[in-house]
Amino acid sequence: MKKQKIMSDQSHVLVIPYPAQGHINPMIQFSKRLASKGLRVTAVIFSSQALLEHTQLGSVEVVAIDFHIYEAAKISVDDYLKQFQATVTRKLTELVAELNTSSGFPISCLVYDSLMPWVLEIARHLGLIGASFFTQSCAVDTVYYHIHEGQLKVPPEKLPLTFSSQPVLEITDLPSFVQGLESKPEYSSLLNMVVSQFSTFMEADWIFVNTFEALEEEAVNWLASRRSIRPIGPMIPSFYLDKQLEDDKEYGLSLFKPNPDGCNEWLDSKDTASVVYVSFGTLAALGEEQMAEIAWGLKRSDCCFLWVVRESESTKLPRGFAEDSSGKGLIVTWSPQLEVLAHKSVGCFMTHCGWNSTLEALSLGVPMVAMPQWTDQPTNAKYIADVWQVGVRVKANEKGIVTKEEVERCIREVMEGERGNAIRRNSEKWMKLAQTAADEGGSSDKNIEEFATEVACKSK
Ligand code: UDX
Repeated sequence: MKKQKIMSDQSHVLVIPYPAQGHINPMIQFSKRLASKGLRVTAVIFSSQALLEHTQLGSVEVVAIDFHIYEAAKISVDDYLKQFQATVTRKLTELVAELNTSSGFPISCLVYDSLMPWVLEIARHLGLIGASFFTQSCAVDTVYYHIHEGQLKVPPEKLPLTFSSQPVLEITDLPSFVQGLESKPEYSSLLNMVVSQFSTFMEADWIFVNTFEALEEEAVNWLASRRSIRPIGPMIPSFYLDKQLEDDKEYGLSLFKPNPDGCNEWLDSKDTASVVYVSFGTLAALGEEQMAEIAWGLKRSDCCFLWVVRESESTKLPRGFAEDSSGKGLIVTWSPQLEVLAHKSVGCFMTHCGWNSTLEALSLGVPMVAMPQWTDQPTNAKYIADVWQVGVRVKANEKGIVTKEEVERCIREVMEGERGNAIRRNSEKWMKLAQTAADEGGSSDKNIEEFATEVACKSK
């Protein structure tokens, strides 16, 4: 993928991710791609996190708008979302007016996170193009679409699900909000949130999905038969797709503090493909018992490991484990994940199967041990293990715990033997397909280019 400007235009696009790391990353990356096509792009982040400030990421300007709910921990998900919508609506309208005069480049389009479908109303009110960006997989979107259309009940009445565009989905393959709501009342608000992504699906001018055609051909075709959608993924920094753009190696905006311990130096000291990289993303919280089983499972596997245990999770580690594993293991609170996955010493990724982590591993050809926790992750795990066959999925025991023996078994299966070889071959195949989609003229690149061209023409 070469850096290119297809037009020197004044069209100005605002990109508005939902303020969570897994949403900011792909939408910041999308902003960079749009800028590389000649559009002027401003990304708007609503966040109270102190690490965020106004900044410039290459040619993308980032505007950080403070959104702080003092009693955040105490209010319900619904109240939080109401306050969020009210703040974004007011501040975004003000920002558009301000940028229209101060930047000299009037805004012509709002690209909004599909979790904020009501932004389309703001776009309509201001006479702007409205484009919805789906950050999760097309397969998961398809499940939510069926619920939105009243074609699937929660919990499902008949199992397994046999959608024409999907493999057979058992209950444990479904997004967690769809599996059942009895034990987790807060899931009902979250389910509403993910299903309402489709409330502007038919009206939005563009629908982008962070996937690529070859990866989810059937789900993409099925959803595209409802209305035109544009797969534009994998939205990862282009350096990792073609090794060319040194200045596009990071997403660029982290809500988490970089870890002081040098992951790269530590990885440099290890043999090729000998390290298990372990991370459960930005939100998942594991129980203490589960953390202990993972710890002892890593030890039993006898592999070197680099484990991201976020600060909020660190008290759950078995006492003395970090010290006890020094040499063999490194535990950090946050890693430069892309650099880690691209490092030659990493042989497998034990992952919670967040969609970004999944796309990153897939695009870098890293085999996975899939250990999904919640939200879309069970469905991603199903695809990792059974559809793309780029990893194995752990099985929990009757208490819902993945035991140390199971952790060891899965790591060995991916790192050693015939199955491991087959998984590595598949991982390489998908890595190449991801690169082809993102490359100049590839299916995802073409979709981005078409959008940039249309925005530019409409703004003239
Ligand atoms: C959840 C959902 O599972 C995901 O599908 C959704 O779209 C966002 O919310 P999350 O826990 O954020 O996922 O994980 P993931 O989607 O994998 O995103 C995490 C991002 O943080 C990745 O881009 C990853 O590279 C980055 N990360 C994570 C780091 O840079 N360092 C770390 O130590 C851990």
